[in-house]
Amino acid sequence: MRVLITGGAGFIGSHLADVHIDRGDEVTVLDDFSTGQAANIEHLETHPRFRLIVGSVLNRSLLGEAMAGCDRIYHLAAAVGVKYIIDHPLHSLRVNILGTETVLDLANERKIPVYIASTSEVYGKTEKIPFSEGDDRVLGSTRVSRWGYANTKATDEFLSLAYYREKGLPVIIGRFFNTVGPRQSGRYGMVIPRFVKAALLGHPLTVFGTGEQTRCFLDVEDAVRFVLALFDSGNAFGDVFNIGSTERISILDLAYKVKEMTGSSSEIEFVPYEKAYEQGFEDMLHRVPDMTKFENAVGLKPKYSLEEILGRVIEYYRR
Ligand SMILES: NC(=O)c1ccc[n+]([C@@H]2O[C@H](COP(=O)([O-])OP(=O)(O)OC[C@H]3O[C@@H](n4cnc5c(N)ncnc54)[C@H](O)[C@@H]3O)[C@@H](O)[C@H]2O)c1
Repeated sequence: MRVLITGGAGFIGSHLADVHIDRGDEVTVLDDFSTGQAANIEHLETHPRFRLIVGSVLNRSLLGEAMAGCDRIYHLAAAVGVKYIIDHPLHSLRVNILGTETVLDLANERKIPVYIASTSEVYGKTEKIPFSEGDDRVLGSTRVSRWGYANTKATDEFLSLAYYREKGLPVIIGRFFNTVGPRQSGRYGMVIPRFVKAALLGHPLTVFGTGEQTRCFLDVEDAVRFVLALFDSGNAFGDVFNIGSTERISILDLAYKVKEMTGSSSEIEFVPYEKAYEQGFEDMLHRVPDMTKFENAVGLKPKYSLEEILGRVIEYYRR
């Protein structure tokens, strides 16, 4: 099989590339390295079944070239991370909407099946948990940039479903919840790599807000397994699936757990959201996926517990 992974030099994309190479497939990665890192794929660069194209999904002709002869596309390239989105609002809107539209349009010309990476952010600040795929979405003001990300990804979902219904393009939409593991960068606000790095260096662990907000973390290896299972099943097209774990922890407890597991004497500091991000920043208190639909479709559950995930990330940063 020949696969194209946009954003394949990123955290999730590079793990997806590894799995396809291991399965004996040919992998093309298109990435502009805006948040991706050469180190994530350097072990693949000399592989005879691996090809790297450096450039943007906004470059239509380059994207068309990357898709030539492909059997499957994973569209992961996007502006990501709450901090990155707030710092680059215009660029983020353009990449996440126009980039996805270009991917869908070119894939449709060639009728190549596509996986579209969406996010739990699309649920917004709804207080109903767990989040089910058919739930209403509750989003904040357009003056708060963080909601721009949720809206771009929701627009991507609308576009994908429209291509499926009107053009017959086989599309699967996966809403990733917090995904973690080796190679994830803490630069753009991702909490586990930030905590682990700080704990190992003896720096303070900064908790945004009160720390009472809860999240569920899925290991990247499980996330990739879930995406592949959806694609391989052949019956997930034209539909939306949560991709996450249901093991929940508060961010404050997470900070304590990281300290304990690293044996760190770092302090825990609380930073108000306005200082960490932007004036008027709003967060969702709890974020828990309902995984029933996914489990009914492919019958898989996560392999790694939170403790095991943290162990893997700590080991990665120690190395
Ligand atoms: N990691 C998570 O917890 C999570 C949660 C929800 C959704 N997602 C989604 O999963 C996908 C992958 O996220 P990730 O965590 O691996 O982030 P990442 O930043 O590591 O990966 C994104 C990749 O896309 C590349 N990219 C960005 N703009 C591009 C462009 N214009 N053209 C080509 N490449 C471009 C980046 O350089 C990077 O390599 C994204 O679409 C993201 O929205 C991730």
